[in-house]
Amino acid sequence: MSPLFSLGQSLLLALDPERAHNLTIKTLEMGIYPSCRVPDDARLRQTLCGLEFPNPIGIAPGFDKNAKVATALLDMGFGFVEVGTLTPRPQSGNETPRVFRSIEDRAVVNRLGFNNEGQAAALARLRKGVPGIVGVNLGVNKTSDDRIADYVEGVAQMAPVASYLTVNISSPNTPGLRDLQAPKELAALLTKIEETCRALPGRRPPLFVKLAPDLADADLPEIVGIIQGSGADGIIVSNTTLARTGLTDRALVAEQGGLSGRPLFARSTRMLGRVYKLTAGTMPLIGVGGIDSAEAALAKIEAGASLIQIYTGMVFEGPNLIDRIKRRLVQAVSEAHANSLAPLIGRRAEEWAIKILQEDAE
Ligand code: FNR
Repeated sequence: MSPLFSLGQSLLLALDPERAHNLTIKTLEMGIYPSCRVPDDARLRQTLCGLEFPNPIGIAPGFDKNAKVATALLDMGFGFVEVGTLTPRPQSGNETPRVFRSIEDRAVVNRLGFNNEGQAAALARLRKGVPGIVGVNLGVNKTSDDRIADYVEGVAQMAPVASYLTVNISSPNTPGLRDLQAPKELAALLTKIEETCRALPGRRPPLFVKLAPDLADADLPEIVGIIQGSGADGIIVSNTTLARTGLTDRALVAEQGGLSGRPLFARSTRMLGRVYKLTAGTMPLIGVGGIDSAEAALAKIEAGASLIQIYTGMVFEGPNLIDRIKRRLVQAVSEAHANSLAPLIGRRAEEWAIKILQEDAE
């Protein structure tokens, strides 16, 4: 990374986290970022759900909530962008301060509560066109009295501009949202969404379901079975956690909200390994949670991810993390005497699935 961008990174980490984020979005909107003009190594390319991913590294939702900087993010080297979470109507989210970070722990706790400008504003921006893959992450308004209707509205409204859609039922910051992961509720929701997709006048975008890392092991087989049977195309593992294992920063432990970053890595990767085993490699999985190094990215793929996403790691490491990951993945493909990521995906799922987490050992 150029010295200018390293300096920018240090300055951002000195600011209040939400101000730093808003400033980053503004900077990207102004076109000030390290652009990556070198084409990706062909060995990182994959076609999944009919979409051609130039590389497997995506920016996780929550970063570009309002679809303002998707083109800039692709230009920085991401293989895909997931915007959102978008709700049908604009909403301001929870009271500030609502994002907290610990540099020592390489972690963030947020309780933003789906602050966003609403789907119509994002739709207008995305209609102008984006030169790459843009997933749209859908949520519900806090005051909604019919949550299923909010998802249905999101699918119908955003499908024309979405490379893929994500049903986000795993944010911990909208009270009761995670209850939609319960088998009965999940089946009802996905049935309704599938009906909406089938009735779309145009193309049906692939559908991903994003899960929380706090689901009990015992509940996972039924939940995964429902998703597989619903017509959904893939699963995203995972959202932020309510657990605080691995955090040493007492101030952060005390804050309510979802924890992301390094302390989430083992928990989310273990769950990814379990979901990979349950789906037997039949649907693409997106691995997200605590990737802040090239080795962590490779581990996610080996646990079962075809694609990965990053948010918190970018906050601490800056954009050159993308290039470090690409180089490590190409090296791993070459070490496997392969010409694609395929043989790496899930090759250590078993190991991850039975991993004993720190909290289980205590
Ligand atoms: C998030 N995340 C998130 N996820 C989502 O589906 N919709 C959202 O709106 C948000 N918002 C959001 C805001 C902030 C500040 C953070 C840190 C995270 C969760 C994110 O997409 C990802 O699943 C987790 O953060 C885990 O990945 P990392 O951050 O450890 O790489």
